[in-house]
Amino acid sequence: MKATARANTNIALIKYWGKRDEKLFLPMNSSLSITLDRFYSTTTVEFMEELKEDKLIFNNNPGSNEDRNKVSNFLTKIRNIAGTNLYASVITENNVPTAAGFASSASGFAALAAAATKALGLKLKDEELSVIARQGSGSACRSIYGGYVEWDMGTRADGRDSVAKQILDEKQWKLTILSAIVDSGIKKVSSRDGMKRTVENSPYYKGWLDTVSDDLREAKIAIKERDFQRLGEVMESNALKMHATMLGARPPILYWESGTVEIMNYITELRRTGIPAYFTIDAGANVKVLCLPEHEEGIKKALMELKGVLQVIACYPGQGISYL
Ligand code: PMV
Repeated sequence: MKATARANTNIALIKYWGKRDEKLFLPMNSSLSITLDRFYSTTTVEFMEELKEDKLIFNNNPGSNEDRNKVSNFLTKIRNIAGTNLYASVITENNVPTAAGFASSASGFAALAAAATKALGLKLKDEELSVIARQGSGSACRSIYGGYVEWDMGTRADGRDSVAKQILDEKQWKLTILSAIVDSGIKKVSSRDGMKRTVENSPYYKGWLDTVSDDLREAKIAIKERDFQRLGEVMESNALKMHATMLGARPPILYWESGTVEIMNYITELRRTGIPAYFTIDAGANVKVLCLPEHEEGIKKALMELKGVLQVIACYPGQGISYL
């Protein structure tokens, strides 16, 4: 009753922002991501008769109460599917930069879903695993797959059709994603709370919903045609639009630090010199820069020289879930 799984993180090109069902993690819009090869979570789950509660070890430390509750609630969903009430020991290791604000919930819940269901002997299709992972953290449903992945929001109330699928595998289009970690000390609003507040009271959220499906359609065409400029433009615009909805919320949410803005300005300038590169930002201060592999070295060096930038790591489209 023990299994180990590894899942990579993903970066959304077209963002998921807002839930229509908080309990089932059903999104207000469909989204699209690239799974990243360099950052991953490795998780071992063992269900045992002798345990009186779930145990969590997170990066060699006991997890926080909040983390333990999230993991335990998620395991209960899996226990219900498998028809067991055994508790589990969960040991998880995150291979992501230690700097604050680097999202790992996607890889964390994807790896946990895969390891826990395997440990219980459930034989699941990728789509079924994706539906389960979604209920730990929305973006986790995309980390089941490698390469370029679309999460279809679905329409059913029970969420069975709110599932991710691969649209292009990781070997079919090699782009570079430069992951820039910026200096950020302040504790930010979680994506969960940030999207909730935005949906509840930002007057701009309607503008997001009115246009996000067009952005997604355009991104998919760009991927199909390997049109880098088109993909970059719609990705950048979509990220800025998401952040604009948060600025309109009350109280407003601003995730950017000075380093974030420095990178945005630098990338915009770089394009004026004829080098195509585009940025995207999740619910945090860090920035991902999408560029062609032939420009990666030069851009990485220049980013490292910006004052607010601590670290830059080059990533490529990576694989989906693996079992160790
Ligand atoms: O799945 P969560 O709760 O980590 O939310 C993800 C939200 C964004 O990262 C901002 C967008 C996305 O699609 O990943």
